[in-house]
Formats: sequence, structure tokens, C-alpha cells
Amino acid sequence: MFKCRVCHTDVSPFMTFGQMPIANGFLTEEQFEDEFFYEMEVGVCSACSMFQLAGQPEPQQMFHQSYAFYSSLSAHMQSHFGNFAAYLDEEYLSRRIDPFVVELGSNDGIMLQHIKERGYRHLGVEPSANVADIARSKGIETLSEFFSLDLALRLGSLHGKADVVTCANVMCHIPDINSVAAGIASLLKPDGVLVFEDPYLGNVIEKISYDQIYDEHVFLFSVRSVGNAFSRHGLELVDVTPQETHGGSMRYILAPKGSRPIKPSVSEWLQVESRQGLDVQDTYDKFKKDCDVSRMKLKNLIKALKIEGKRIVGYGATSKSTSVLNYCGIGPEDIEYITDTTPLKQGKFSPGAHIPIRGHDAFTGDYPDYALLFAWNHANEIFSKEGDYKRSGGKWILFVPEVKVIN
Ligand code: SAH
Ligand code: TMP
Ligand code: ZN
Repeated sequence: MFKCRVCHTDVSPFMTFGQMPIANGFLTEEQFEDEFFYEMEVGVCSACSMFQLAGQPEPQQMFHQSYAFYSSLSAHMQSHFGNFAAYLDEEYLSRRIDPFVVELGSNDGIMLQHIKERGYRHLGVEPSANVADIARSKGIETLSEFFSLDLALRLGSLHGKADVVTCANVMCHIPDINSVAAGIASLLKPDGVLVFEDPYLGNVIEKISYDQIYDEHVFLFSVRSVGNAFSRHGLELVDVTPQETHGGSMRYILAPKGSRPIKPSVSEWLQVESRQGLDVQDTYDKFKKDCDVSRMKLKNLIKALKIEGKRIVGYGATSKSTSVLNYCGIGPEDIEYITDTTPLKQGKFSPGAHIPIRGHDAFTGDYPDYALLFAWNHANEIFSKEGDYKRSGGKWILFVPEVKVIN
């Protein structure tokens, strides 16, 4: 049993993943001995519908001066955030006088660079100092702190209230959601908006993408759970729009209660969620079984290929891959190495499973027989750049939504 982070109701976990390391905690051989592990369990609150982790490492163990996720390494995400900024501009900024935008978890500035280019007042709040430094080098105003109610109150008195508070793939990372929601409510102008997007629970359940469950993702949101969590702080869901990013995300638009009309999308999606059974325990019992089956199929496939003497590597040392490798018990005896374009990960080992991480050259210089696509959410971008691998006879192993081999 644990207490719901939103409404403090007792929640019993429906699934345990076993001992998990820090998902982005890439490490050197010398650090193996002291590696941190915690028991990863998930549950859904019966009172407010929030899907959440039971326990989690401290934020400072995950977000620090050597945070391993650099947003701008994906060309597709760059274009997504160009469009995101254009949307904010068109809908909420262009007709206002000297608007002010605050972004939480602005990382290397992938989104705010477009707000800055348009000459708008902006502030990024990014606790991971290494990525915050990159944003600053692009001229983006960035504060290296964890966003909270306290910080929101300070920002409000220092810079004035915000027209737009926004974040992407960040809200679901912050355990004290009540502090964040209260902070945003206090920071917004009466006619301001909160716009955020995160991986969507409905897609995770539908695609059996259990790899979206890892330490940083303390919540997996639905329209219902977001509506409940923010209404406690006077913010109301006024629109939602699905996004194709990260394997299926949802964009939530919230505003001070009564300040804007509520679009039909909100009730439509609540109905979709009821039809999908997101509030029914059976759905999660089935999800757990689906995950067990998915794990067994992936392990059996890898075992069969190894018996045939095939070379298998991983593609994309994603935080998601940490859940897959540790939950399935896949190690360096199965996967030779994982190729990843992030310099900070290269030369290190994957968390828990301790598979070596190599650069892209290792892959192109000596193609394996099979590549297990951990970065499946970037499949289009990756397939289009790896045409030579395919032509050389290389095959891809996918595991979402089902375990299969393609070439
Ligand atoms: N928005 C970017 C980065 C997502 S990664 C993108 O979509 O690509 C999540 C980011 O949230 C990390 O950079 C992390 O440092 C930041 N973060 C974690 N906790 C935070 C908090 N309390 N306040 C603000 N940012 C936070
Ligand atoms: P993400 O799925 O959390 O966005 O992480 C993607 C990871 O995959 C990140 O570490 C960068 C890496 N990557 C590659 O190695 N090659 C690529 O072409 C892309 C798009 C990502
Ligand atoms: Zn709750």
C-alpha cells in the first residue's frame, strides 16, 4: 500500500517490475558496485484515477549536472517543438502585449529557442545543469532549479505573472504534483493558460509499452486523472489533443476555472477512456498479463537467435530500455552493445544490465544480424537513416506493440 500523490487515498500496487536502477544512470565499470536500485511498482488510485509509481528515487538522483537526456538529438522532436512553439504563438501569444512564457524542464532549449527567436519574454526552469547550460549558450533565459510552489511564488514577484506556462515530458516527472499545480495556478495571469504534453496512459495500455514505466515517469496521465489533479487547484481542462510523439502522447490545455469555454474534446476523450476501461481494475490485470507475455516472447526470440549464433545489438540507449532490459533480464551475453548518439552515454554501460554503449560508428562499421529497436518511438527517423543496414540484410527486432522481426 502507498498513498496517492494527488489525493492521499491508499493505493495497492497491481504490478511489480522488481529491482530497478536509475533509468538514465549510465555508468562506468568502477561504479557498478555502488549502483542504486529500488523496487519499482505501479498502482492506480481508485479515487482520482492517477496511474503512478509506488516508490521512486529522489529527484536529485535523476536530474543533476550530468543528466543523460539531450532533447535536441532527435530531428523529429526538433520539428515537433518548432510546431509546438508556432501553436503557442498563434493561439496564446501573438495578440498579446509583451507576453511572458515559462517552460518547465526546458532541457537544451529545443522549444524555447523558437519563443526567443520571436522576441517573447521567456524563462526556462531546468534543474539539470548540463542541459540548462546548452540552452543558455543559445541565449535562452534559464534557471537551474526544480519547479515548485515556492519557486513559482518567487518567479511571480520577480518577473510578473505568465501568459503561458508550458512543459513537455516534464509534468509526469514531478512527484509533488500538488505543489506544481498550486505553483502554476499562482503564476498564471487570470487569462493565462497551462499547456503540457506527456506520454498517454491509453497508448501505453493499448500498445503494452511497459517501457514507458520507469523512475522519471512517476505518473502516466489520462484526461480523467489530469482533470482531477488540477481542478483541486482551480485549473480546469479546456482542451486536449492527441500527439504522435513518444509512441502516443496527449496535449492538455488548462485555464483558471471559468475563464475559457471547454471544448468538446474533453468530454469526448473522457468517453474514450471509459470505453477503454481505464477506470476498471481488470484493464490493469490484463495489462500485467500482457507484459508477462511480451517479456517471455522477447526473451525466447533472443534465446533462439543466440542459439543460431546471431549477433544482436540494441539501437537507442533510451531510458525506456532500462525497464525492458531489467524487467526481462536481458544482459551483455544477449546484446553485444547498444548504439546511441548521445556522447555522454558512449563508453559507459547501461543501468543495471551493464551492456556497453557505443557510438553510431560502431553500428555502421560492422553491421550486426539483428538490431533491437529500443528507440521505437523514433522508428521513422531511424529507418530512413539506416537504409544501408536494411540493404545489407540487417533485421530489426520490435517489441511494441508486439514482439516481431522485420527487415
Ligand atoms: N522538455 C524536454 C525535456 C524532457 S526530459 C523534451 O520534451 O524533450 C525531462 C526534463 O525535466 C529534464 O530535463 C529534467 O531535468 C526536468 N525536470 C525534472 N524535474 C523538474 C522540475 N521539478 N522542474 C522543472 N524541470 C524538471
Ligand atoms: P527517447 O526515446 O527517450 O527520446 O530517447 C532516444 C535515445 O535514442 C536517445 O538516447 C538518443 C538516441 N537516438 C539515437 O541513438 N539515434 C537516433 O537516430 C535517434 C533519433 C535517437
Ligand atoms: Zn488519488
